[in-house]
Formats: sequence, C-alpha cells, structure tokens
Amino acid sequence: MIEGHKEIEVPAGVPVWDVDPYDPAVLSDPSDYYAELRAKGPFVYLSTYSALACGRYEETKEVFSDWERFVSSRGVGLQDFSLEEPWRPPSIVLEVDPPYHTKTRAVIERALSPKAVGDLKETFREAAGKLVDELLEKGTFEAVEELAETYPTTVFPEAVGLRENDRRRLVDYGEMVFSAIGPDNELRRNAMAKGPDVVPWIMEQCQRERLKPEGFGATIYAAAAAGEITEEEAGMLVRSLLSAGVDTTVAVLGSALWCLASNPGQFDLLKADPKLARWAFEETLRYTSPVHTFCRTANVDTEVSGVRIAEGTKVLCVLGAANLDESHWPEADKFDIGRRPAGHLALGAGIHGCVGQNVARAEGEAVLTAIANKVESIELAGQPVWRPNNSIHALARLPVTFRGA
Ligand code: HEM
Repeated sequence: MIEGHKEIEVPAGVPVWDVDPYDPAVLSDPSDYYAELRAKGPFVYLSTYSALACGRYEETKEVFSDWERFVSSRGVGLQDFSLEEPWRPPSIVLEVDPPYHTKTRAVIERALSPKAVGDLKETFREAAGKLVDELLEKGTFEAVEELAETYPTTVFPEAVGLRENDRRRLVDYGEMVFSAIGPDNELRRNAMAKGPDVVPWIMEQCQRERLKPEGFGATIYAAAAAGEITEEEAGMLVRSLLSAGVDTTVAVLGSALWCLASNPGQFDLLKADPKLARWAFEETLRYTSPVHTFCRTANVDTEVSGVRIAEGTKVLCVLGAANLDESHWPEADKFDIGRRPAGHLALGAGIHGCVGQNVARAEGEAVLTAIANKVESIELAGQPVWRPNNSIHALARLPVTFRGA
C-alpha cells in the first residue's frame, strides 16, 4: 500500500510523472504543475503515490461527478477507507455515497436553504460594510488576517448558531481537516499537531445544548428530534459545516483581493458596476480554485477517455488545473470579471457539489459589493505569500492598501 491505498499498475498509454503535487513549492505556486499536467494527457501516473491524476476539464469533471464509478466513500484523500481506518470518523456527507448520502445531504440542504441564507443577507451586508469602513480608516492592512479571516469568522459562526467564537481555532480546524486529506507529509503532521487543542473545542461548540435556538445548527438538530437522523449524526453534520465552510471562504476572499489588486482594470469595471460583484466572485473561484485537489476512488474496473482505470485506483481530481484548461476556457489564464464562468469546478459538480455555495456566495458578494461601493483603489503593499495546504489554495499574507474617495 502507498499512503493507505492500493498500489496500481501504470495503465497503458499513461505517462509516468515523478512530480510531487503535495510538495509545498508546488502547492504555493501550482501554475506550471497545472499546465504540465494538462499537457501530458487526460491522465498521468504519479509514481510518488501510485495514483492517477487528471487536470483537463472534461476528464476531471467526469471523474469528480460520477459517484457510481468513482466513489467518495473510500475517502476524498489519498487514503482508501476500505483498506485502512481513517484518522477520524469520515464526514457523513462528503465521504459517503447514496443512499446514505441522500439522507444526510437532505438535512444539510434544508438547513442551508435559499430562504435561510436569504434571511442572513442583510446581516452579511452590514458586517461587510462595517469591516470595509474600518479597513479604509487603516489604509494599509494585512488582508488575510484582517479581512479574509476576519469576515467569515465574524458572520459564519453566528449563522451556524455558535455561542462562542474563537477565530484562530475555527481557521485552524478547517486547515487541519483539509491538510489531513493529503499524504503523510510535514504539512499534514503540522496541521494534525493542532488537533488536541482544536478538536475538543469544536466538538463542544457543536453539541445541541451549546447551540443557539436559531441558526443552521438548530435546523440540523431539529432533524434529529424528528427522528430523521440521530443526535450523534446531527453533531457530525454541524461539525462538517465548520470544517468545510471556514477555510474555503477565507481562501476565496484573500484570493479575490489579490485578483483585484493585481488587475486594476478589472477593479475599475467592478467599481463602475458593483452588480458585477457576483461575477467577480465566480471568476475568483475559477481562477484560483480554493479547493485545488480532492480524490475519488474507482469502485469498479472502468475506462475514461480510452484509459483503463482499475478498481481501487485513487484519482487526484485537480480542480485547479481543470478551471484553467484553455481548451475549455478561452484565455484561461486571464482574470476577467466579464466572463460568466458557469460550470467551473471550484464548488464541485454532481451530487457532492458544494452544499454551502449559497452561503459562500452571500459572503463573497457582500464583501465585494462593499469594496466596490466604498474603495477607490486597491494596491498591493508588499509581496503576497501563499500558504501551502494539501487541499486548499490560500494566501498566508497579503499586504494591501485601500484608498477611499
Ligand atoms: C468558496 C467557498 C467554498 C468552496 C470553494 C467550496 C468547495 C467545495 C467543493 C469543491 C465541494 C465538493 C467536494 C466533493 O465533491 O468531494 C464542496 C462540498 C461541500 N461543501 Fe463547500 N465550499 C465552499 C464553501 C462552503 C461553505 C460556506 C459550506 C458550509 C456552509 C460548505 C459546506 C460543504 C459541504 C458540507 C460539502 C459536502 C457536500 C456533499 O458531499 O454532498 N462549503 N465544497
């Protein structure tokens, strides 16, 4: 076994590549890796991990969304849960298949319904306006810490119904869960070292009696009270909101600022028409792919684009590469908020497609609209630094200057 999964033969016609996609240098600056992955063919065999990887749009979408042939229940990381016990109980929505997935997904979908999210939009807008005003006062600030981390950890725990808020632990929890999906490298070990501090705190906050009587969490526990799921499952679903819904939005907000600061012409377009905030957010998702890679496991012997894929094969679906595939996206390497990037894979595709996307969009649009309305110019005030993570593409530091009118 390699990293907890079956060692496989190289399928006929598939190039062997010794790149390590989880090398911090690749994770920090993945564009050459993405381009080479696409250029090599529909799939490559990664000799470091004895797994396949795909980064062209068509194949990535096919593998990522075909839950019958490429299951999630064997883990969306390198480890195959049918062969090795996972480090923690797997997510009961992300890492399960139908029919169980259908049941848990329905509960979360109800909690995050368009109505529930719609009711929060005014609060989200107010919080965004207030934060942008404070940052304009400062002028120059650290955009990852003071905006990308601050905003979601202000509005999201409140929306879930948490009574306590601990920004650092909320961000660290997501970072830990997402890095744990990768191989047993230093990133994973460093992230896991935070577990003893972070996990008990999260577990405690997500208990029924700790949550406020309104919020996403309360709706999930109502499903337990109605006998649809158990109380233990309800706790796990609330935790999955915290693991999936914080570091991802932190990543996209930091990246959106980076995109706008690096492309002043695009920021001018946004200012001229703040309604473009929605598309600026989608284009940031396409262009920067906050979840860069998740895996699937072939559950049967099968074939994709003429490549034979044996049962038990782990396939790295490199969403970051697929979202920059020039054969699908004209001028893929341009950040263009006039593009309508429907069908990007940053929020997944198919039955596991991001169940929190309405929340993410509401947060993103609130922040970008406030910036468009209040800020005259955005400039980088120093070198951006990326934060390598085995699944998430996010900035660690982004010094920025906002100027007002
Ligand atoms: C821009 C921010 C976000 C990004 C880029 C993102 C990305 C993704 C992706 C790519 C998937 C598909 C995973 C797969 O198919 O294996 C997914 C699923 C999921 N997301 Fe998000 N997400 C974001 C925000 C959120 C938020 C705010 C929440 C919670 C409110 C959330 C909760 C979930 C959950 C629970 C799943 C699992 C759904 C399932 O398996 O049926 N996400 N997300």
